[in-house]
Amino acid sequence: MRGEISDLIGRICLFFLIQMDRGLWLSDKDDKDKLDMRELIKTKGLPGVIKHSIENSQIWSSFFRHSLKDTPKTRMQAIVSNVFLHLHPAKVKRHAPLFKFTWCMGGITFFTFLVLTITGVALMFYYHPNVRDAYWDMKGLENHVPFGLLLRNLHRWGAHLMVITVWFHMFRVFMTGSYKPPREFNWVIGVVLLVFTLLLSFTGYLLPWDQLGFWAVTVGTNMARATPGMGHEGPFGELLGMTAYNDIRFALLGGSMVGGNALLRAYIWHCIGLPLIVSIFLIVHFWRIRKDGGISGKL
Ligand code: HEM
Repeated sequence: MRGEISDLIGRICLFFLIQMDRGLWLSDKDDKDKLDMRELIKTKGLPGVIKHSIENSQIWSSFFRHSLKDTPKTRMQAIVSNVFLHLHPAKVKRHAPLFKFTWCMGGITFFTFLVLTITGVALMFYYHPNVRDAYWDMKGLENHVPFGLLLRNLHRWGAHLMVITVWFHMFRVFMTGSYKPPREFNWVIGVVLLVFTLLLSFTGYLLPWDQLGFWAVTVGTNMARATPGMGHEGPFGELLGMTAYNDIRFALLGGSMVGGNALLRAYIWHCIGLPLIVSIFLIVHFWRIRKDGGISGKL
């Protein structure tokens, strides 16, 4: 009885394998050099033939475009044929991933940016950018939403961490002389990233609409009055027709004092404008690292 059942299973498998072999599953390339299934079963055994058929099927090869054997060539193919992995170079110089060279500060800065993006989107579900709700939304999040306090603190401490690590990253790049040609352009992109990281931090400060944020932004935007050419109290400001109602401070606040318009502007810059700009510059930054020959070597 047992023998008959296994014989039946064997026949059913054989039937399907022959169907596959006839071209139901096989790609055109394999179709050309079809093997006789019975011969194959003899040499590879049934599991081997099933593996062979699956790996050579059109469905499989449409997902996995190269062999899964572990060779230098297939390792490289695994990287370049994957949309996420191809962002990394297929090969890196030995010193490049060394912690003692980069301190991983650029990588950690990027990681915190990703954490901030994810937690920031989650925070948006609980926040209304208006003077009446903003503060109480944050209190409600802390006290009534499960893991709300954790979410808020992840975002807040993540922001502090990003500002600290971006400075350390810049310091490392300076100390290893990595700003020198051919990397001088990437240094400039880095400076832009630094400025936008600080702006992200600054605009986020106002959003809880608490005393700390309110007065920090009041002082910060008051300084904008003295911007050369663009602030009404700055050099050439008056000459260029700047007043308290048309200068850079007015543009930042959407008015002449920190109020509802300033909160809305800070929110839109913080959640949409600045992250978009930073993402674009990050793409250029990472692309440049590759084009400049990977992470620089020792001095
Ligand atoms: C959002 C901010 C930034 C992120 C996420 C970031 C990310 C990275 C990463 C991941 C690397 C690879 C090497 C490493 O990890 O050290 C790198 C390299 C580099 N970064 Fe940044 N970076 C940022 C800001 C800056 C700033 C502020 C500067 C300088 C003003 C800068 C200049 C450079 C340069 C010149 C390189 C090439 C270094 C080398 O080849 O050794 N970056 N960056």
